[in-house]
Amino acid sequence: MTSFTTSALPPASSRLARNGVEVRLAARPDGFPTPDHFRIVTTTVPDPAPGQVLVRNLFMSLDPGMLLLMSGGSQLPIPGYEVGEVMYGNAVGEVVASADPSLSEGDLVVHRLGWREYAVAGAEAFRRVDERAYPSPSMHLGFGLVAYVGLMEAARLRPGDTVFVSSAAGATGGLAGQIARLKGAARVIGSAGSPEKVAHLTGTLGFDAAFDYHDGPVLDRLRAAAPDGIDVYFDNVGGEQLRAAVEVMNEHGRIAVCGALNRQRTGRPDDGPGDLLSVAAKRLTIRGFTLFDHLDRAAEFGEQFRGWLREGSIVYDETVVEGLAAAPQALLDLVGGRYTGKTVVRLTDAAGRTPVA
Ligand SMILES: NC(=O)c1ccc[n+]([C@@H]2O[C@H](COP(=O)([O-])OP(=O)(O)OC[C@H]3O[C@@H](n4cnc5c(N)ncnc54)[C@H](OP(=O)(O)O)[C@@H]3O)[C@@H](O)[C@H]2O)c1
Repeated sequence: MTSFTTSALPPASSRLARNGVEVRLAARPDGFPTPDHFRIVTTTVPDPAPGQVLVRNLFMSLDPGMLLLMSGGSQLPIPGYEVGEVMYGNAVGEVVASADPSLSEGDLVVHRLGWREYAVAGAEAFRRVDERAYPSPSMHLGFGLVAYVGLMEAARLRPGDTVFVSSAAGATGGLAGQIARLKGAARVIGSAGSPEKVAHLTGTLGFDAAFDYHDGPVLDRLRAAAPDGIDVYFDNVGGEQLRAAVEVMNEHGRIAVCGALNRQRTGRPDDGPGDLLSVAAKRLTIRGFTLFDHLDRAAEFGEQFRGWLREGSIVYDETVVEGLAAAPQALLDLVGGRYTGKTVVRLTDAAGRTPVA
């Protein structure tokens, strides 16, 4: 249950210095991190200089990719975290003081300065969003656009396709399966790491079939779930699931490589897609993608997504963790499989109160 500290923040209009909590990288992990790799620090938050904006963060996103950034992030198209420095990540917050005409007090903004209660930066670091777009501001942090461009661009989804999604109960996978169905897939199959998650996939998210990837060889489970083969694989995981998908793929099948959770969890390099003769003989496409190349499709996606939410044809699944102090352990738990849907951390509520777990 959530309670709130009563050391309430100054009113939004106050320009006095205030303290804020932030999380820094304490040491670079060698393997899977522990809570000791994070340091929680209270700092004085400066007032915004001319051209800057002060934002009180409401929610921040937890992403498995943050583990790679803790390790240095050299394989990602974004910079890794620096030891001793505050970490970063997607967040949504409210402008509490602005020294730039482009943003005003009370505006809701998304930005990359998570892992801190307050963010101060040039106005260009923040993008104003419509506070009425979603029931909760946290939904601006969702990974629906990742799922959408993975299916539509990387996998070239076609009506009638049979689609397989791994880590299907997670932030991206849960939406990828549902969006595939909404875009005309004939059959949607998901894999996840527990019986509860498997039941969630078929019972709540509308997957046609699902299996626990711990239950014997993935190849056998996938063949049983897709007797006529699969046309699209939305790969969040790599490893054994990727190799099984290559084997079960129909001719001209398409694999969209979104992530490498097996590698992110174990720290070991991925063994790759397996038998390339199968790839050649079946004329398969294996295509990696990143969201950063497709941000121009955000408006098109957002319009469809809000329509699906309005008509009740998509389930938005979210786990909310309370308070920045709980975020380091929650990041480790996220990759460990504890949560479903998009995992976010509530930093402060709209009244500026800090949740205490
Ligand atoms: N390409 C892009 O632009 C882009 C953008 C965002 C995210 N990503 C990547 O996409 C992937 C999914 O991101 P997300 O935020 O949606 O994560 P997510 O699926 O919510 O991630 C958490 C889940 O990972 C699963 N997992 C952990 N280790 C695993 C393993 N060894 N094998 C199979 N599943 C494992 C766990 O589920 P189970 O309980 O089912 O094991 C856990 O619940 C990540 O690799 C992320 O870095 C890519």
